[in-house]
Amino acid sequence: MQRHDILIIGAGLAGMRAAFEGITAGLDTAVVTKVHPLRSHSCAAQGGVNAAINPKDNWEDHAYDTVKGADYIGDEDSIDIMCREAPQAVLDLDAMGCPFSREEDGTIAQRPFGGANFPRTAYAADRTGHAMLHTLWEQAVKLGTTIYQEYHLLKVLKDPETGRCAGAMVMEIATGKVETIVAKAVLIATGGYGRVYASNTNAMINTGDGVALAMRAGAHAADLEFVQFHPTGLKSSGLLISEGVRGEGAYLIGKDGQRFMQKYAPNKLELASRDVVSRAETLEIMNGNGVDGAIFLDVRHLGRDLILERLPQIRQLAIDFEGVDPIHEPIPVRPTCHYTMGGIRTNTLGMSDSLPGLFAAGEAACVSVHGANRLGANSLLETIVFGKVTGKEMVRFVNNEGNRMPKTSTDEVADAQRMVADLKARTKQGGVRPADLRKKLTEGMQHFVGVFRTEDHLKEGLKVVREVRKDFDRVYIDDKSDAFNTDLLTTLELRNLIDMAEGTVLCAIERKESRGAHAREDFPTRDDANWRKHSLAVWNHNRGGIEVDYEAVRTTGNARYKPVERKY
Ligand code: FUM
Repeated sequence: MQRHDILIIGAGLAGMRAAFEGITAGLDTAVVTKVHPLRSHSCAAQGGVNAAINPKDNWEDHAYDTVKGADYIGDEDSIDIMCREAPQAVLDLDAMGCPFSREEDGTIAQRPFGGANFPRTAYAADRTGHAMLHTLWEQAVKLGTTIYQEYHLLKVLKDPETGRCAGAMVMEIATGKVETIVAKAVLIATGGYGRVYASNTNAMINTGDGVALAMRAGAHAADLEFVQFHPTGLKSSGLLISEGVRGEGAYLIGKDGQRFMQKYAPNKLELASRDVVSRAETLEIMNGNGVDGAIFLDVRHLGRDLILERLPQIRQLAIDFEGVDPIHEPIPVRPTCHYTMGGIRTNTLGMSDSLPGLFAAGEAACVSVHGANRLGANSLLETIVFGKVTGKEMVRFVNNEGNRMPKTSTDEVADAQRMVADLKARTKQGGVRPADLRKKLTEGMQHFVGVFRTEDHLKEGLKVVREVRKDFDRVYIDDKSDAFNTDLLTTLELRNLIDMAEGTVLCAIERKESRGAHAREDFPTRDDANWRKHSLAVWNHNRGGIEVDYEAVRTTGNARYKPVERKY
């Protein structure tokens, strides 16, 4: 058994930023990650990070854009914190050596992004997450951070006497050894669960492990129905083509070669918020203006020099994965699952109300800065602001009311060990392959729980999810070995994906309105009187599934945030 003051699960930007706080405060801080930290999904973020650092901009306008983008269901207190702290959070990274792109005068360069009324997205070419993650990784190495590298999360543990979060059970991937790690404070920073959709921009690792296992331990998850479809995933692979491309001036065109966004967002055009643009594209494709399920992103008019300087990665992705050189041809793109707005419900300081001692930050959390629709480039921002805020809060917790090593229950430990042994012991007889179940689940989500939703479709989706959950009881794996057993690991991930899919579709069925990314054809308008509230997904142990509850949105009384019709 290992013991630490702070245990951080996930080594992306949120986890690494929080670890920095723990270590520099002198606490014994460890990070668990199922991949090498530099392979965390934060590394894939392209377009940039929002912050009102230009003297002509101000954080209040950033907060207003975010409240509006969230379609008035983000928590206003959290949004204020994020936008107020944004400039310092970016300057912290700059001071650590993050190689942001620069203007001629040496100031950090910023580009326009969707749904924002000021060009406030700081960037490092089109590899911003990569640059930021490497910067924080350098700090982690410098500070001698303890990293459990390539350890898979099996279970979030609870102290049987106090009900407090007690740590986690993890499996060393290289050996299959199961380890218990006890900690006074535990941070879930495992990212989102975009892999629950067949077409997505997400890394293979984004299977919602931390959120699903925290739910099973008693933490509530909020707003799972709000799933962001990015307007420009590559047609064939779903790989991300950054919104930064539209920020630099790219057009969306149909098969007729004409721009179409003026019909849907006459003021902001291609730079309307993502939910608006993804719906517009879907309608164009449905109405026959697409080719092979895609429309086109045209950058040719930006010219070779700009493309090579500011968009080198997306050019290479288009060449390698679509066979198209954007300097000469438009890129075929389509709306693709990109981001999950929901996650572990926390207060403004990142602590779960339902599981004391458990914290969450980044995409795994619902501190609720994104509401029903996240603005592009607010995701990297959330990781560095709430990684920092939550890291500081964990330090405070460990030095005060949480300053006692929790106990673990032998039953819980045995339970996790039994789950692994049981999966390995199953035989092929009457069994089902995990890959087949995963295909059924992700294709079902793609088909029934997409950009536009109806009750009938969602119920079909739920049926698929429930069938997959039932069949999981007879899933079998071929590989019975201990070392690098990816057959076992992907099966464990599938169990988490099933939980996340059920939470998403149940909350989507219940929410009888359209808001942000949740577009119900049968309830096409927003209904503030009845639905300006967060959905909560709560794990029910007796039934072995998820139930839905609700919680009020946190408002601040700022008259500027009063809900009005959202137009771009
Ligand atoms: O389009 C992008 O570069 C993605 C940014 C984001 O999701 O924040």
